Amino acid sequence: MIDRLVSPQHHDDDGGLDTSLRPRWLTEYIGQDRIKENLRILVEAAKARDEALDHVLLYGPPGLGKTTLANIIATEMGVNIKITSGPAIVIPGDLASTLTSLQKGDILFVDEVHRLSRLVEEALYPAMEDFAWDMVLGKGMAAKSIRLHLQHFTIIGATTRYAMLSAPLRDRFGATYRLDFYDEASMYQIVRRSARILGVSIDEDGLWQIARRGRGTPRVANRLLKRVRDFAQVKANGVVTKSVAADALALLEVDELGLDEIDRKVLLSIVRKFGGGPVGLETIAASVGEESDTIMDVYEPYLLQLGFIQRTPRGRAATRLAYAHLGEPYPEGAEQRQNLLF
Ligand code: ADE
Repeated sequence: MIDRLVSPQHHDDDGGLDTSLRPRWLTEYIGQDRIKENLRILVEAAKARDEALDHVLLYGPPGLGKTTLANIIATEMGVNIKITSGPAIVIPGDLASTLTSLQKGDILFVDEVHRLSRLVEEALYPAMEDFAWDMVLGKGMAAKSIRLHLQHFTIIGATTRYAMLSAPLRDRFGATYRLDFYDEASMYQIVRRSARILGVSIDEDGLWQIARRGRGTPRVANRLLKRVRDFAQVKANGVVTKSVAADALALLEVDELGLDEIDRKVLLSIVRKFGGGPVGLETIAASVGEESDTIMDVYEPYLLQLGFIQRTPRGRAATRLAYAHLGEPYPEGAEQRQNLLF
């Protein structure tokens, strides 16, 4: 995949940026108010009972703060957190030493939890439910299973694909929260906070420019802020104003809604090559040269949120709004045709 500036996926060069900008406590975390309120209650109740937190599942598009929230929960609970991911755990044995080393209340964060193998997932069931780990010793006829006792710990699972989790796994999470794209006011606050931490001189209008083009995703906005700061340093006197931000973002080919070249390619492909759709995800992916999983996880959620595409049983269709944004004439009768095809 091309390394997009507006990609909500993690970039290698985000490292330093991410950690210094990441809020550490719930009070510093902007937006997602309902989730914060629920988490406050969950944490306070568990602490008052001196118990481990229930297992928590966080889902939603990438870059919205699932990992940040998991770290915040650990800080608020005053416990250790270990971080792993679905694809990193190949066989159940990979988990055994981690699980047995967890102390009471500790958190195991499993990113991309939908990518756990069936075998690993099944080994996790007794761990999550009974805090027991069944270890198989030996092979074949001589194999014996012994049950190890685990401390009461908490799994925080994160996924961009709720629908890909099996029902038994979903059911084992006591609390499930869906993260949504941030509204403009929250994005503004986030960019303002990041600018302050990074020491960027930026005026109100400059902040709004970045907030509006950050596609409702803090990780994207923080990255844009960094690039705009570079531009201001080189091309202006280091101060980010509305026009400096707009010029910088135009040069980076990020439009007023935060769409980049690949978003536009996806939309234009539906509109120009497939008559506005509906067209299958695989076909779109092949036409723009991206993985269909990437389109589904990374590009599509924001385009859906903007109301630029619709998901239909027959595939994806571009809406009137998408045509307007692209400046393409809307073919009369397209809506009826799409509706007839659903
Ligand atoms: N940085 C990234 N996400 C954030 C959030 N939700 N609140 C504050 N700062 C952030």
